[in-house]
Amino acid sequence: MHTVIYGGAFDPPHSEHVKALKCAVETFGAKRAVILPTYLPPHKSRGFLDFDTRAELARAAFDGVADEVIVDDAEKVRGKDNFSYLLLPEMKKKYGDIVYLIGGDSLRDIGGWRHPERVLAECTVAVAPRKGCGDAEGEMRDAIEKYGGNIVVLDFMGGDVSSGRVKASLLLGEKCEDIPPRVAEIIARRGLYRDYAEDVEKLRGMETEELFAHTEAAVMRAVDLNSRHNLKQDFRRVFVAALLHDNAKQRPSLDGLDVPKDSVGTPVLHQFLGAEKARRDFGVTDGGVLDAIRYHTTAKPDMTVLEKLIYTADSTSYDRDYAPIPELRAEVDADFEGGFLAVLGYTYRKLKAKGGAVYPLTESAVKFYLPELAAEYGE
Ligand SMILES: [Fe+2]
Ligand SMILES: [Fe+2]
Repeated sequence: MHTVIYGGAFDPPHSEHVKALKCAVETFGAKRAVILPTYLPPHKSRGFLDFDTRAELARAAFDGVADEVIVDDAEKVRGKDNFSYLLLPEMKKKYGDIVYLIGGDSLRDIGGWRHPERVLAECTVAVAPRKGCGDAEGEMRDAIEKYGGNIVVLDFMGGDVSSGRVKASLLLGEKCEDIPPRVAEIIARRGLYRDYAEDVEKLRGMETEELFAHTEAAVMRAVDLNSRHNLKQDFRRVFVAALLHDNAKQRPSLDGLDVPKDSVGTPVLHQFLGAEKARRDFGVTDGGVLDAIRYHTTAKPDMTVLEKLIYTADSTSYDRDYAPIPELRAEVDADFEGGFLAVLGYTYRKLKAKGGAVYPLTESAVKFYLPELAAEYGE
């Protein structure tokens, strides 16, 4: 009798997790499914829910997918060194014949696993691919060639759902269809994922309905790009930077805050003022988050990943459907760095075509990232 082992943060578990596990259980004729929520020592954990709450949600989410469903706290008991190559032998001892279920993004990341060859030597690995995220079949062949073992790509295609996306909707106070009703019920009853409720409401009062809709679209876009391209940016930092990126757009009063003089009265003022007001009105102290807000319109030379992410997510946010944004969005989806450059180039050409001065930071960003384009304009 096979047992399917399914590990993950499950912060929170969503409907695609359930479908993937169901598919693995059916494919292997398994009678038992064992859920293995990840555990990080509290000081390292930047997640939203503690282990016990995530285990509780997992129990509610996966109930009934197999004859027997167990949520195993092996990771919490071990406390550290929770690597698959160490956990799987333990699971085998406990449950016998096992199959290890992973998501398509984990397979793509296999080079970063500890001892992938030992994981693959331990048991069959089943992969649940996700739509638009790499080529699971090709990655499977490469992985087997490199590390040996047996990998099965499930006949299943996960939809456009991720824990990040679900979490962002919940944090924004929006309804989320992608979580099993029993999980939704626990989340609502216990008031989980309400960490930013106050900030969201405050911001809603500062933005018109249209701008707030753009803000939400930019948040979803930033969270999606972070997970799609495995940018490994801390979820909270991405969420807060995207949430507050336009907080000063409709509040142009300077209030004596420190902004570059040459930005006053121009469209780029709101980025500088936005960073200052995020600090003053929302208590943001993280310099990297403030800088992502501060340069989201102009860009600048030598940007951090978070800065590029917010800049790119804003320009290609889901509410922008005028040409050529859908094509740019597709470019960014295919290749983050290349897409970022395409967005910067497009924006620069557009500004130049309008005539008038381009803000100096944008000129220097183009010189830095796209010297040939800058040369075209004699800069
Ligand atoms: Fe903006
Ligand atoms: Fe924006």
